[in-house]
Amino acid sequence: MTDTAAGSLDKSVQVKLVLLGEAAVGKSSIVSRFVSNEFQANKEPTIGAAFLTQKCRLEDRVLRYEIWDTAGQERFHSLAPMYYRNAQAAVVVYDVTKAPSLEKAKTWVKELQRQANPNIVIALAGNKIDLVQPSETSPTGHATSESEDEADDATATPGETPASSGTEPDGLRQVPHEEAQAYATEAGLLFFETSAKTGEGIVDIFTEIAKKIPIEHILASTRAGRTGNASGRAGGAGQDAGVNLDDSTNKPKDACNC
Ligand code: GTP
Ligand code: MG
Repeated sequence: MTDTAAGSLDKSVQVKLVLLGEAAVGKSSIVSRFVSNEFQANKEPTIGAAFLTQKCRLEDRVLRYEIWDTAGQERFHSLAPMYYRNAQAAVVVYDVTKAPSLEKAKTWVKELQRQANPNIVIALAGNKIDLVQPSETSPTGHATSESEDEADDATATPGETPASSGTEPDGLRQVPHEEAQAYATEAGLLFFETSAKTGEGIVDIFTEIAKKIPIEHILASTRAGRTGNASGRAGGAGQDAGVNLDDSTNKPKDACNC
């Protein structure tokens, strides 16, 4: 639909965002945390892809993320172009406790840089930092406090216990922060370390992407021919396990911070 094109600085601008990364790094968990502020200790692998939406308010704009959460299992790799094509943003996820997952993330970044929209905003997210940190104050601040309101009850569920004791919270870490940061800087990516479990850093990903998105460019291409968008949000169920939690209008403050 082109209905948002005209007045979209007061309405929301739609931004297609894709999540990519190795299986089990936490892509779906990041989306669940962002969209519904929930965390599930034993989340099932995604089959194909899932589609969700969430609004993100900034001071001067409201974005409506159309999120394609892809399946990380190798057998689904060939489907990925379908989801990153026309995407304005991508979140490439790795697991800080699994070094090979960063290598996989790098191959996704290369693929995006070669084949996706040249203006795509890419964020690299090192997830599961709760496993390598004592559960204290978050260095990044506000995202944690925002998420801890309610759904973080799930955080306290038995299942995975943070490596919180002792003087070596970093014991499980296989990807040093500095190494990933240096790579991200060199490759021109936004960089975050996150925990879908505690909520740390999750909102930041989407807020920082929102700030970097070239809105005018999106509006122009939206006007030029939105019909070409393969996602078609209302019909998001077209893919496998699409769960549309488009109730964001009822939860104004849960989206990006503002
Ligand atoms: P695919 O759909 O197979 O590509 O996996 P995925 O990347 O979507 O991973 P998913 O979100 O399904 O999470 C995999 C497992 O890791 C689940 O058991 C999650 O509960 C767990 N998990 C996800 N994020 C975190 C996190 O931040 N911390 C911890 N401790 N566990 C997490
Ligand atoms: Mg998944």
